[in-house]
Amino acid sequence: MIVCVCHRVSDKTIERAARAGADFDEIQLELGVATQCGKCEGCARALWSECRTSHKMAHLGQELGIGRTIQLVAV
Ligand code: FES
Repeated sequence: MIVCVCHRVSDKTIERAARAGADFDEIQLELGVATQCGKCEGCARALWSECRTSHKMAHLGQELGIGRTIQLVAV
């Protein structure tokens, strides 16, 4: 699915960049996401945030040697 129509950037491309550790600013700079009309920014940031969170959890699980992802819940 195309997230940024102005620069034809898909959800998969944003997801791949986020999982590779890119900050949102880097995604904007490299791909142009949310740098023209800005209508995609909310969706792109939500997608980036979701992918970054799951990436960090998977990494934490590996560091702890538990071999699985743990669920962190804010209260
Ligand atoms: S849709 Fe992404 S900048 Fe316009």
